[in-house]
Amino acid sequence: MAWDIRRCDEVDSTNNVCKTLAAQGADNTAVIARRQTAGKGRLGRSFRSPEGGLYLSVLWRGCPAGQLLTVTPLAAVAVCRAIEQTCGAVCGIKWCNDVVLNGKKLCGILTESSLRPDGGAEWLVVGIGVNVAQTAFPPDIADVAASLAMQGYSVSPDALAEVLLEQLTAMRQALPHPQAWREEYRRRCVNLGRPVRVLRGDASRQAMALDVDQQFGLTVRYENGETETVRSGEVSVRGLYGYIE
Ligand code: BTN
Repeated sequence: MAWDIRRCDEVDSTNNVCKTLAAQGADNTAVIARRQTAGKGRLGRSFRSPEGGLYLSVLWRGCPAGQLLTVTPLAAVAVCRAIEQTCGAVCGIKWCNDVVLNGKKLCGILTESSLRPDGGAEWLVVGIGVNVAQTAFPPDIADVAASLAMQGYSVSPDALAEVLLEQLTAMRQALPHPQAWREEYRRRCVNLGRPVRVLRGDASRQAMALDVDQQFGLTVRYENGETETVRSGEVSVRGLYGYIE
C-alpha cells in the first residue's frame, strides 16, 4: 500500500484537510504541511504549529471496532521508531500518546474518525505533530515542549516524514496482531512504576502507574489502595510536580 502524499506550505490543520478528503472518498492519503494556522490537540486543546515542525496526517478507510483503541498508541511507537532511525534519539512515550525526550514533549497525536453503526470506523485520520527543528517555544509551553534540534539532534522534517510514512505502513499491517508493538509501547512508557497525577476535569488524584492493559488503558493504584484502569479521552496524566516527574 502506497500513500497518496499531498504536501502543502500552510493549512489550518492537516487533520481537517484529511477529513475533507475523506468526505470526497479519498483513501490511503497523507497530508504534510510546513505549518498550521489552527493545529488541533487532544481534549479540545490547540497545537502550536510553526515552521520547523512536522505536521502530518494520514487517512485510510475501514478499521474494525476492536482495533480502534490500538491505532494511536501504535502510531506513537511508529513515531519513536522513525525518530530513532533518522537521528538516533531514543524516545519514550508519556501515556497516553505523547512522544517525549529527556522529560520534554516532542510529539502529540490526534486521531479522528467517522464511526459506522457496528462501532468500526468508516475512515480514520491519524494526525501527528513532531517538534523537529524549532529553536524556541512560547513561554507558556517552554517548560514542557522541546524540539529534536533543541535536544541536539539534527534531522529535517521532510526526512523524518519519509521514514514515518514507512513506519505508519508497518503499523497498519501490525494492527490485527499488535503484540510486539504493544510490548514496545510498554517498554517505552515513561510513566510505569512512577507516581502520577490523574486529572479528570478539575479533579486531580495522586496514584502510582502500574501497567498498560491490552486496550492501552493505564492501570493505576490510588493512595487509598483502590486500582483503576483509565482510558484516553477521559483523563490526562502528569507527573507529581510537572509534565513527567
Ligand atoms: C496533542 O498533543 O494533544 C495532539 C496534537 C496533535 C497535533 C497534530 S499536528 C498534525 C495534525 N493536525 C492537527 O491539527 N493536529 C494533528
